[in-house]
Parts: sequence; structure tokens; C-alpha cells
Amino acid sequence: MNKELRLKVVNTQSVSGQRPGTSGLRKKVTVFQQANYLENFVQAIFNAVPALKGGTLVLGGDGRFYNRVAVQIILKMAAANGIAQVILGRGGILSTPAASSVIRKYAATGGIILSASHNPGGPDGDFGIKYNTDNGGPAAEKITEAIYQHTTSISQYQISDAADLDLDVTGSFSVAGMAVEIIDPVADYAVLMQDLFDFDAIRAWFAAGNRMQFDAMSAVAGPYAAEIIEGLLGAPQGTVVNGVPLEDFGGHHPDPNPAHATELIATMSATDAPDFGAASDGDADRNMVLGRNFVVTPSDSLAVLAANATLVPGYRKGLAGVARSMPTSAAVDAVAKALGIACYETPTGWKFFGNLLDAGKVTLCGEESYGTGSDHVREKDGVWAVLFWLNLLAVTGKSVEEIITEHWARFGRHIYSRHDFEEIASDAAENLMAALRARLPELAGQSLGGQVVRLADDFAYDDPVDGSHSARQGVRIIFAGGDRIIYRLSGTGTAGATLRVYLEKYQADTAGHGAETQAALADLITVSRQLAQIQTFTGMVQPTVVT
Ligand code: G6P
Ligand code: ZN
Repeated sequence: MNKELRLKVVNTQSVSGQRPGTSGLRKKVTVFQQANYLENFVQAIFNAVPALKGGTLVLGGDGRFYNRVAVQIILKMAAANGIAQVILGRGGILSTPAASSVIRKYAATGGIILSASHNPGGPDGDFGIKYNTDNGGPAAEKITEAIYQHTTSISQYQISDAADLDLDVTGSFSVAGMAVEIIDPVADYAVLMQDLFDFDAIRAWFAAGNRMQFDAMSAVAGPYAAEIIEGLLGAPQGTVVNGVPLEDFGGHHPDPNPAHATELIATMSATDAPDFGAASDGDADRNMVLGRNFVVTPSDSLAVLAANATLVPGYRKGLAGVARSMPTSAAVDAVAKALGIACYETPTGWKFFGNLLDAGKVTLCGEESYGTGSDHVREKDGVWAVLFWLNLLAVTGKSVEEIITEHWARFGRHIYSRHDFEEIASDAAENLMAALRARLPELAGQSLGGQVVRLADDFAYDDPVDGSHSARQGVRIIFAGGDRIIYRLSGTGTAGATLRVYLEKYQADTAGHGAETQAALADLITVSRQLAQIQTFTGMVQPTVVT
């Protein structure tokens, strides 16, 4: 080690507002650029997780603006804090699921992931940082709360004055005596995908002339999709579009849903549309899949993957169980029932699946918010979900639409939509929810819009593994026939409050399966607006986003 290099102790002051949210600390880039803002949080992680001293830390992010700056700071701070080794994705890049897989593969102590997921990036966009533990999953609340407590009392941080490291070459390096292994961000992940899926069958599917469009939305999935789908699976060049990760995602909102992935929706609705369409978000943990002129809801996607899992090598032995978040439709419940396996209903947030996966109680899980995953990592995984679908298309020889409509014929259709009312004043949103909660005791047995309410409550969850209790996770109105209206406030927004209204109607009769979603849900939509007095509280007549 160069004798000139020094480890510095820098005096600092705590900054308020560094409590991690649903998925780490997410703020505007300009907030992170404030003096010592990032340094304080990183030091708080090292203080809260003493095992990192002498341990291995995985580091990488989705490549958004400030990613490279943050990587250099974290490397120097890790060296000064006695971390033995950092495993870093080349270019500072690791998708969230790839980071999770690398933590597990190399038995690291933990990982720092730099991402604000699907939030826009660039100098005026968002940045984020989160800590994952040795199981590869987001740190439990006990740890994030400890990190937060350290941020409130911090007075010093440690950093080395080593020179910046060249992030763009793989190999073994040293930062002030700390080992840094720069790895190809895709290689280990690609190996894992080949263990799970039938690459020969998918290769044959492409070779037979079937076409796909993968919209990486100028985000981190690009290199993964290009190397796996165009490289290993032989799909023609141009299958992956917007495949180069850009620091500002090309100015786009990298969220794979019909409202934001408009380019892909247009391609898939054209007369010469490819057979299969897919998109993922900023850090590649979300996914949307589509057939030709056919949008698949995330809830249906989870149900289809569960019903057909044994067609895929990695899941040939069958599923231990499945899990979905409460607002996600009950489509997967119907599959679990038919398969005779357990189905868990958890609060919104991927972290609630962690214990179930670690305990071997579930193999697949998913959320209505375009997240699907399995026990192969401890994050949701966009590229994995797309490969799962490709595997199904290849071995069944069916189209996306055929797979879905046959699924509905067997299990019934859970007609489903989410209506978001964004940027509501926080107090108006809180008042709306309070008024709704106040009415819950009187609703059961009442008739609303011609349907009798069977259950009206505020969802609570008791974790079957660690016994923890999570209350107030969303208002549920469940009707006698199984139709549901769910209300909750988003836990991930950065401006004001977002009210999410989830609408679900069960249609057993095949004659009704072709119905247009919003038309089929019209009565429930009317009831949902009136019951919560949405216009009265928010002044809004229509939602800002419909998925
Ligand atoms: C993130 C989390 C998911 C969650 C989603 C929506 O993607 O990882 O688990 O479902 O945000 O959360 P929200 O609270 O905004 O509805
Ligand atoms: Zn994400």
C-alpha cells in the first residue's frame, strides 16, 4: 500500500430525513449531492452492521446519474472502515436481482445497491441507496431502523484519500489496501439463468422465426437482455431496444406498465407485432409481458407461471408454495388450490416474501406492481420472469394469448385493474383513509352497487416465520362473490401522497372472458369512487394512472 495514502476521519453533522422507506433511502439527486449526505448514510450502514468489518461487500447500481460518483465514495469509505473485500460490477453496474444473486453466490456479508428503481433519473431525477443482507434480500426493518438511528447521531465518518479506481476494467485491484474484485455484471447472473431455464428450447423457438421485442427502457436490463437473449439465445440483433443504460434513461420514466412503456405498447399493437413483448424498470427487478395485441396483468402472469412451473427445468420438482401481496389478484390462489399447495397473502413490499422464501415455504411470489420472482434470489427479477415466459412459449408452442385464455378457461378470469390518484396533498389522503376506516365496522352485510359486502377490514399480517405483526396494510372491501375493492396509500412516492385503488372481479363464465377490463369493472369503479368520496377529498374526478 502506498504510504502516502491516509485514512481520514471527517467531522460531520446529522441530516434529518434519512429513514429508509419501502426500498432504501430514495431522494432527489440534488439532495444526495449535499455535502456529507451520502457519506453520513454509508457510515451509518457500516456502524449498524459491524460484521462488514473484515467481510465482503457487494456493490453496484442501475447506472443512473450519480452512480459512479457514489461508487467511488463508497469504495474509499469501505476501505477506511476495514471492509476486507468489495465485489463490484464493472462500470459500477449491477441490476438489483443480479446484486442479490452475487451476494448469495459469493456468500458476501451484504451488499449496497444504488438505485431509485423505476423513478426517473438524471441530474433532476432521483437517486437511491439500500442495504441487502447475506441472504441477498433487502435488510429487515430492524436493520434499516438501526441505520436510521445512526444517521441521527452521526458526528464523524471515515474515508481514505486513495485515488479514484478505474471502474471499467474487470480484475483484482486494491483501494487503500482493501481488495476490490471488479466482475462482469452479467456473467454470474447468466449462469444462474441457464441453470433454471431450457435455453435449448428457447434457442429453437427463436431459430424457428418467432420474434420478440424487449424494451430495456434505457435502463440496466439492457446489458443483461442483450447478452442473454440476443447472445446466448440467438435472438436477432434489434430484439432488445433501448438497450444501452443511460444516466437519465433517455429522459423516460423507466417503469414497465402500459402508462409508461408506450413505445412497446405501440409496437405490440401494430399489425406486424412480434410474438412476445417485454419491458423492465430502472434496476431490472420489475417486468411487464405482452402478447401480440395482448397485455398480461402481473397478477395473471404470476398465476400462469405457478400453473406451468413444472414445464421449466428449475421448477420441475414442483412448488413448495406461492405468495402474493394482498392487493394482487387472487388468480394465483386458484392455482394454488388446484395444485394443493399453500398460498400466502402478505402486505405490499417484496421484503415480506423474504422469510417465506428463506424458510422454504414458497417457491414463487409476485405483486400487482409488476414484480415477479422466485427462491433463486431474494429480489423480484424482471429478466428471470421474461425468460420464464419464453421457456413456456417455447415448450408449449402456444401464443401468449392462447396461454392466458386457456388459463382463464381452467381457473376463471380475475378481471383486474389499479387506479392511481397521484400527488394528492398528504393530509387530504390521510383524511380520506381515516374516513374510510371509520366506516369499516358498519359495512359488512350492506349492499353496495347491488353486491353484498362479505368483509370490510384493514389488512393485518402475522408473519408465520418470525411472528411479527404488521397492521394497517390497506382497506379491503370483499363482496360475497369474491369481487374486491382495495384502498391503500403508496409507500414509495416522492411527491405528496398517491392513493391506489385496486379493483378485482371474478368471472367464472368463459363467455365473459373476452370483456374489456375497464368496462367489466365499471360498476366496481363507481362504488370505489363513492365509498371513499375520492372527489370530495381530493378534488380529482379521474385517476392519473390506470394499470
Ligand atoms: C416497490 C416495492 C414493491 C411494491 C412497489 C409498490 O417496487 O419493491 O414491493 O409493491 O414498490 O409499492 P407502493 O407502496 O408504491 O404501492
Ligand atoms: Zn425496480
